[in-house]
Amino acid sequence: MSTATQSIREIVTRQPSAAGIFHRFDIDLCMQADLSLEGACQELQLSVEQVLEKLADAETQRCGGMALDPEKLSLSRLIQHIVRIHHNRVRQELPRFAEMALTLSAKRSNREPQLTTIAELVETLRDEMYSHIQKEEQVLFPFISQMDQESIVAYPQAHACFHSVTHPIFIMEQEHESADNIVAEIILLTNHFEPPSWACATHIALFSGLREFEADLRQHVHLENDILFPRAIQLEAEITARR
Ligand SMILES: [Fe+2]
Ligand SMILES: [Fe+2]
Repeated sequence: MSTATQSIREIVTRQPSAAGIFHRFDIDLCMQADLSLEGACQELQLSVEQVLEKLADAETQRCGGMALDPEKLSLSRLIQHIVRIHHNRVRQELPRFAEMALTLSAKRSNREPQLTTIAELVETLRDEMYSHIQKEEQVLFPFISQMDQESIVAYPQAHACFHSVTHPIFIMEQEHESADNIVAEIILLTNHFEPPSWACATHIALFSGLREFEADLRQHVHLENDILFPRAIQLEAEITARR
């Protein structure tokens, strides 16, 4: 739990989601890194209690996402969980990371040239993941939900884009592999998300944010590749066999 007396740097090191909250309150990760949260709030005439409350909410939300057993959820509920926790995270975090990586590259790439490549990779990851989750939410997930909810009555009308759920699933799995390859390159270039000793608070916040995002992406892909997709393929086979 963050406190008012901790410095901005300490808070983002311990809680990567804090960087997004500070950004919303206009707390500058570079200029105010060594101030206590209380001091930074005083400078900006902010309520320290309100900032602490948002920091605590972000932690609760992050921990709450891990509490359920995905094996016990229906396919529709599992999809809702994936969208609410993991897709929202893609939408909230990746644009912010891309912006931070670009700022960092502009300021520090003369000292650490790989920051430019890292910024390009984060931007590619953002673009690929945005397009990927959109395809899932607009095409594949509605089809699986419909199959899940109406399987007893009828197989959903074949989607205009595919004849079997295996086709879009194959494409989604290929895209997961592509995201995984980008993340593997980022891990290599960031020395496993370890910032150098001279790193500023933006640098620390970006690397610790990317570390958390990588863990979240692994869980996200696991839920789809290992639970949702095999169960959807099995359900489709059962429905087809009954027709
Ligand atoms: Fe997804
Ligand atoms: Fe996916």
